[in-house]
Amino acid sequence: MSDAYPPIETERLRLRAPRLADAREIQRCCAPIEMAMMMLSVPHPYSVEAAEKFVGDQVEKARMGSPDRNFLAFAKTTGLLVACAGLRAEPAHRHAELGYWVAMDHWGRGYASECAERLVRYGFEEMNLHKIHAGYYTHNPASGRVLAKAGFRAEGLRSQHIWRFDRFVDVALTGLLRSDWEASRAPRGAGRSVEGGA
Ligand SMILES: CC(C)(COP(=O)(O)OP(=O)(O)OC[C@H]1O[C@@H](n2cnc3c(N)ncnc32)[C@H](O)[C@@H]1OP(=O)(O)O)[C@@H](O)C(=O)NCCC(=O)NCCS
Repeated sequence: MSDAYPPIETERLRLRAPRLADAREIQRCCAPIEMAMMMLSVPHPYSVEAAEKFVGDQVEKARMGSPDRNFLAFAKTTGLLVACAGLRAEPAHRHAELGYWVAMDHWGRGYASECAERLVRYGFEEMNLHKIHAGYYTHNPASGRVLAKAGFRAEGLRSQHIWRFDRFVDVALTGLLRSDWEASRAPRGAGRSVEGGA
């Protein structure tokens, strides 16, 4: 079966488009309430049918030529599903929203940061984005840390913006401009004029 879009990789992970055969594993990863508490798009309880719908939506989007990408990330050493990371694009504005999750038994090992960094590079290099943005619930500081490490800057707070599990939750907004990302990657001193230089 050919994937909806080409695979990419990081040091420890292989990322590829979701396939229907992944639905059961996706369901296993997204079923815990701890996952749903942090993400609007993950219903709870989370059924295999919900996972199949998620995969079907991605396949259909790709078939229709959507620029959106949602990669599943598998550990190179074990082949196990570890994470999911995606970019939802607004081509008219050349920006996209970054989202991700890591399976609970793999938290705290740097996988989200690895995925975020790779998706940022993908967004700027392959999708020619001008900006990537992301929001996180303020009761999820680990996600805020992942974004900060990837270079995202705070852009404000949407106070009590989302009704989730019987309470209103705050959403912190962050963004990363292409120019800031490029500057962060440039070798020290590159692009700066040198006084007295030719
Ligand atoms: C948030 C999530 C993606 C983090 O995944 P992860 O692979 O554990 O993240 P990483 O290991 O790459 O980095 C986590 C960082 O947060 C830090 N962190 C963890 N818990 C924290 C807390 N309570 N407060 C502050 N920082 C915290 C870690 O120390 C680490 O930073 P460091 O590398 O400087 O030490 C994961 O917990 C998850 O999938 N949660 C459910 C879904 C979700 O929240 N998705 C994001 C929605 S915005």
